Amino acid sequence: MEEKIKELIERAKIESDDIKNESDYLNIKSKYLGKKSELNDFLSELRNMTLDEKKKYGPLLNSVKIELENIFTVKYEESINSKEVINFDPTLPIEYHLGSLHPVTITSNEVTDILANMGFLVLSGPEMDSEYYNFEALNVPKNHPARDMQDTYWLDNGMLLRTQTSAIQVRGMLKYGVPLKICAPGRCFRNEDLDASHENTFFQLEGMVIDKNISIANLIYTMEGMLKNVFKKDLKVRLRPGYFPFTEPGFELDATCTICDGVGCATCKNTGWIELCPCGMIHPKVLKEGGIDPDIYSGFAFGLGLSRLAMMKYQINDIRMFNSGDLRFLEKFNVK
Ligand code: FA5
Repeated sequence: MEEKIKELIERAKIESDDIKNESDYLNIKSKYLGKKSELNDFLSELRNMTLDEKKKYGPLLNSVKIELENIFTVKYEESINSKEVINFDPTLPIEYHLGSLHPVTITSNEVTDILANMGFLVLSGPEMDSEYYNFEALNVPKNHPARDMQDTYWLDNGMLLRTQTSAIQVRGMLKYGVPLKICAPGRCFRNEDLDASHENTFFQLEGMVIDKNISIANLIYTMEGMLKNVFKKDLKVRLRPGYFPFTEPGFELDATCTICDGVGCATCKNTGWIELCPCGMIHPKVLKEGGIDPDIYSGFAFGLGLSRLAMMKYQINDIRMFNSGDLRFLEKFNVK
């Protein structure tokens, strides 16, 4: 019987080369595995065999059945795949599904382009940074209460995820010296309670100018120029006092509400102003940390909340949409 089985498998292999379609496949299966097949005859012979013979040939015939099925299935699948290649028509139009830029990326590119045109050098700092650059160099020593407002993620290697793009300030001073005019967009992280306007991962854009005789007038002029270009409107800005350990003095900058043009509406709570960007004159201690003499040089810095700016620009009412990965939301910003 072993010889006959060997010969049967050889024949099946040769014939399986002719499988070209589903009906060939079904026919050959029926011929080799069906009721009237040789294999079935062998199986019927089992009835007349001794127990020992049954133990030997039963499993053998079962494995032959599986082997034949495999041979036919593999050949049938090969015939389908080769047909796909034959059916491929290179002249058919190809449907591209291109992605689009993220709304925060679009906003960031726009603002950095504007600042680059105003003479700012565009830098990028590390998202994983040291405690020194993120806090200490910015006049926020250990145990300073201001650290509470910027709780972050501490890493096993002793570094942290930066809470603010201000971490680039002293790096920029040390690397490029004075006069200095830089901006740096980037991702920041805070251990926050999340809500519609607070994320644990969001974007800021740092701006910094240092030279002789830089004053608050330069700060206001630069911010007005930048915001007019961002909103494509004539905007007024005003400064209110604000506290940051790395500024002296520090401000919160408001701009004319872009929704009502300063008349008063729900967005600006009828004040005609919207809070846009913390800023201030760079603290002398920070200048010193960057190797710059505060008796000769002065400067200003600002930290624009890019994610919040993108929300205003695109009228998005929940910041959590940005990191949701929801394609239905992201596909709306189809700017390539
Ligand atoms: C700062 O981070 C300062 N580094 C800004 C600065 C730079 C001041 C230079 C002076 C000189 P503040 O914590 O306010 O400041 O954050 C700045 C902006 O980042 C906020 O106005 C807001 O737009 C945005 N922001 C802060 N926290 C979050 C958050 N959890 N989710 C989304 N945006 C945030």
